Amino acid sequence: MSSARGGIVDTKAWQELKSHVGEISKLHLKDLLGDKARCESMMKEYDGIALDFSRQRATQDTFQKLFQLAKEMKLKDKIDRMFGGDHINSTEDRPVLHVALRAPREALIACDGKNVVPEVWEVLDKMKDFSNRVREGQWLGATGKPLTDVVAIGIGGSFLGPLFVHTAMQTEPGCARLAKGRRLLFLSNVDPIDAAFTLKGLSQETTLVVIVSKTFTTVETMLNARTMRTWITSTLGPAAVAKHMVAVSTNLKLVKEFGIDPANAFAFWDWVGGRYSVCSAVGVLPLALQYGFANVNEFLEGASSIDSHFRVAPFERNLPVLLGLISVWNVSFLGCPARAILPYSQALQKFAPHIQQLSMESNGKGVSIDGTPLPYETGEIDFGEPGTNGQHSFYQLIHQGRIIPCDFVGIIKSQQPMYLSGEPVSNHDELMCNFFAQADALAYGKTPDELRAEGVPDSLVPHKTFTGNRPSLSLLLPNLTPYTIGQLLAIYEHRIAVQGFIWGINSFDQWGVELGKSLAGKVRNQMHLWRTKGKVVEGFNYSTTTLLNRYLKGKAQIYSASYGVFPSEVIRKN
Ligand code: F6P
Repeated sequence: MSSARGGIVDTKAWQELKSHVGEISKLHLKDLLGDKARCESMMKEYDGIALDFSRQRATQDTFQKLFQLAKEMKLKDKIDRMFGGDHINSTEDRPVLHVALRAPREALIACDGKNVVPEVWEVLDKMKDFSNRVREGQWLGATGKPLTDVVAIGIGGSFLGPLFVHTAMQTEPGCARLAKGRRLLFLSNVDPIDAAFTLKGLSQETTLVVIVSKTFTTVETMLNARTMRTWITSTLGPAAVAKHMVAVSTNLKLVKEFGIDPANAFAFWDWVGGRYSVCSAVGVLPLALQYGFANVNEFLEGASSIDSHFRVAPFERNLPVLLGLISVWNVSFLGCPARAILPYSQALQKFAPHIQQLSMESNGKGVSIDGTPLPYETGEIDFGEPGTNGQHSFYQLIHQGRIIPCDFVGIIKSQQPMYLSGEPVSNHDELMCNFFAQADALAYGKTPDELRAEGVPDSLVPHKTFTGNRPSLSLLLPNLTPYTIGQLLAIYEHRIAVQGFIWGINSFDQWGVELGKSLAGKVRNQMHLWRTKGKVVEGFNYSTTTLLNRYLKGKAQIYSASYGVFPSEVIRKN
């Protein structure tokens, strides 16, 4: 790989951090954790959220060097340019203004010379009104029944963020109360099995479909949208679309062409990236239909609180900046390619999948923002599961295999407290015992001497040894409400942007998803020609041609009748 001269690797701070790695490798976390002043300096709090990063393989000196790197990479300037509406997504020539989606009504955020906050609130007000009407039974289905079930069709950013927030809200008592008698379902995969799952037990008469697509061209989403339209019109007739289908998009022209009245469309804007869009109508509409607008507004306020903090707090106590720098340190200097997201809350079970897209689509890049190949890796391989399920799955590798920096996320007040009399601790306490224990187990490990002192036979000592010195950080939230869910979301959104700003890449485009999409189009074309015109498969390599022929012939043996029966079979099952 050729080097990006004049980039990050040539900064003094980068060189200093590189040589600093040698000093850090001589230190073990069990010693670092004995330094109270160091630990105190690595615990920060903002608006109820506590961050403890004392279990990072780093000293105060490391952070001074990272702050210097941030300075040399003009981090403050890049953050200001983001909030200022500059076209920092240069390959798409767009501003990056998801912060405007949760700005207070009176805020002023300019985009190309125009304050965008009033139009954001115009759509928020429209969603409040629409969701209230649906929830209160003023907006009824074609046969006069209330619409109690919502199916949100979308994929990627038009799915993962809303799914994460929905999953986190559904067991919160205030949200659960307002969701009583209602269902929110997501249809994302174009696999008909996903449609079959979603449609099971649904009735057309009581279902509202929300098509969520920024571009309104995404193949999977549009086929699912046509599938749902067929499902609705097959029993209720074409006129029912007006009552049973609405859309969220930046492309209102295509929404209209699909047959949805623009009055039933909820707009957002090019300056909102798909994976940063959960605070737009993409998330707000389905969530407001399920939980009422007030809860969603609280979620937006939580995110907005972090936005203000991110924009003005000094880096030394700026949670997203600290987290971003920690990731850069782990990836670029300590050579850790992955990051585990480990929420100790079942309600956060969809947090890791959301962060996976947010982080990997944003920062999985091979060139700098000016197109120069990077001489260093960017991005992390993100994965995770809620504790304690992860502990009984992949933690073996984390404790004794590869070094994977871990993010532990814990909650003080459970959404669903449970305590059995006679038990030493409550059920949630038991969960949280693991939250505290795992971070220390990773940091301290267990030495052969300790094992021998416990009488472990020599033959087992190597197997039972834990090297320790494995980095983690802990985020402790007071509770899991719409507000703190919004905070958590924004912390990670900004952390990921910080990483990209430091690495000098564009975290807001996603050209890497295009090639596979266009090749799929070529396959689709060939499939169609083979079936309709008997044309031989051509234009692929030997491997693809062979497998594709096998697939087509196999399918032909199964479905001898007209191919059109296939999609409606899924529908007819209901
Ligand atoms: O997978 C690529 C992608 O463009 C994502 O960035 C985006 O969130 C997703 O597809 C869905 O796009 P759309 O909202 O336009 O349907």
